[in-house]
Amino acid sequence: MLRRMSPVLARKSPAGSDLEGLLTAVPWKRGRARAGDGPLFLSTQLAENHAASRRCYHRGRPRDENYREQVYSMADGTELFEIIHTTRAMRRLKPDPVPDALINRILEAGQCAPNGANAQQWCFLVVKDRGIKQAVQVWYQRAFDEVIGPHYRSSAPPPGMDPERYRRQAAAVQYLTEHFHEAPVWIVPCLQQQPTKRWSGASIYPAVQNMLLAARALGLGATLTTRHLVYEKETEAALGLPPGVHSYAIIPIGYPIGKFGPVRRGPLHQIVYKDRWGQAWDGT
Ligand SMILES: Cc1cc2nc3c(=O)[nH]c(=O)nc-3n(C[C@H](O)[C@H](O)[C@H](O)COP(=O)(O)O)c2cc1C
Repeated sequence: MLRRMSPVLARKSPAGSDLEGLLTAVPWKRGRARAGDGPLFLSTQLAENHAASRRCYHRGRPRDENYREQVYSMADGTELFEIIHTTRAMRRLKPDPVPDALINRILEAGQCAPNGANAQQWCFLVVKDRGIKQAVQVWYQRAFDEVIGPHYRSSAPPPGMDPERYRRQAAAVQYLTEHFHEAPVWIVPCLQQQPTKRWSGASIYPAVQNMLLAARALGLGATLTTRHLVYEKETEAALGLPPGVHSYAIIPIGYPIGKFGPVRRGPLHQIVYKDRWGQAWDGT
């Protein structure tokens, strides 16, 4: 029996599966052992399929049906770049619940991010409790009234944006402010360290961006927000963070009301130099 040939692999296989199960569960490696196949062929098949099965299963449970397709359909990179170019701040969200399985996918993507020394001093608070969200929204709104609203009213459109688009962005910012607590899920990325250095956030913001991209890939809207930190003490108390744990963002997530579209940025040549500061970068 094949299982006897590799008891370790057989033992580690997803619950209830055997080699046949693995081979059928992983169609792109549906090799069949035949009489005359040597042990090397069989153990290579087992190892490859076991590795593949680990991508398909998590703690012995099958990942969602489309997992492999979604992962492997990105192999040529085209879809990744499309996702990057259309991951915008999606501030208008439906209150409809988001399945935990999708939130899990987003969290897994966050956890793949680089972080200093791979120390992984991060934790992610998933907030669905409306009372908690409402308590934070009060401070988020206050920071808008005092700081952000006046800033939008008095500032010029940034590069790549005309006044009309900027006005629409300001309206979306105000909308999110008023509906912050209505987003069905928040993810609050935290670090267990005091932010004191310029690179303090460097071990958490890559995870944040991974999560924004993952949300976009799953058809969910999300926005990186940090405004609650204007009232850091008050909002972290409302979030119930223990001493020594600090939040770096709140990411409201939900199904978008509007459509995804391209991000608007200024021209690349205005912000990239070659070798010496001010010298044009000519790579096109
Ligand atoms: C550090 C940081 C903090 C941000 N905080 C907020 C925020 O509190 N509220 C908000 O609506 N958007 C916030 N944003 C989103 C930006 O406004 C948004 O990324 C920017 O306007 C570009 O828009 P786009 O991603 O849709 O192209 C933040 C973005 C960053 C990088």
